[in-house]
Amino acid sequence: MFELYLDTTDLQQISRFNKSLPLKGITTNPSILAKSGIGLNDTLSECTKILGPETRFHVQTVSKTTQEIIKEAEVLHQLPYDIVVKIPATEIGLAAIKHIKTNNKPVLATAIYSVQQGFLAALCGADYLAPYVNRIDAMGANGIDVVADIQRLLERHNLSSKLLPASFKNTRQVMEILKLGVESITLPVDVAAQLFAHPSVQPAVDQFDQDWQAVFGDKLSFES
Ligand code: E4P
Repeated sequence: MFELYLDTTDLQQISRFNKSLPLKGITTNPSILAKSGIGLNDTLSECTKILGPETRFHVQTVSKTTQEIIKEAEVLHQLPYDIVVKIPATEIGLAAIKHIKTNNKPVLATAIYSVQQGFLAALCGADYLAPYVNRIDAMGANGIDVVADIQRLLERHNLSSKLLPASFKNTRQVMEILKLGVESITLPVDVAAQLFAHPSVQPAVDQFDQDWQAVFGDKLSFES
């Protein structure tokens, strides 16, 4: 089943989009939490109040060595939430992922900027891989191609990691990624809003209103 996440801890926006989108949960990173100024524990509990107890949270470690990441992940996995621990796919991060997966705890390899990083993280057993589509595009490379190539390698080698592409600036990037058949995605709030915002939609709805009222006034459909 496809998993849709919001890449934010903004409670107002989470509540807004939870009304119209089937959210599996939210993804965070240290910058997102720092920007909100609200710590992880309050964030998890407030988000759960809005989204419910089945919510999945992708939470990033901030430790700097493999051993410390492993310890931090252990504590995060013990929290009473459905937590996937995000670990940057660096050399020390991959070592932590490889170790944590010996206990089969859920892990996402994050900060993926290249095909090789994604492939190695998958070999280490990461459950999710988060390539940064817009950041790759912004560097003059092609984020969509990177995701497509990782996907091809996952299929060719029968690796079970799910792609969870992140870092989007526009709906074109999102739609190109979805067409690849990825199993999950995380959207920033402004891009999620853009998905609804085709300029022809509201004029079409307004025209229906106008035509209806000209003949049936304020009657509802079943009253006509
Ligand atoms: C996701 O998990 C990443 O941390 C995040 O999407 C990066 O997005 P940005 O490039 O918009 O900061």
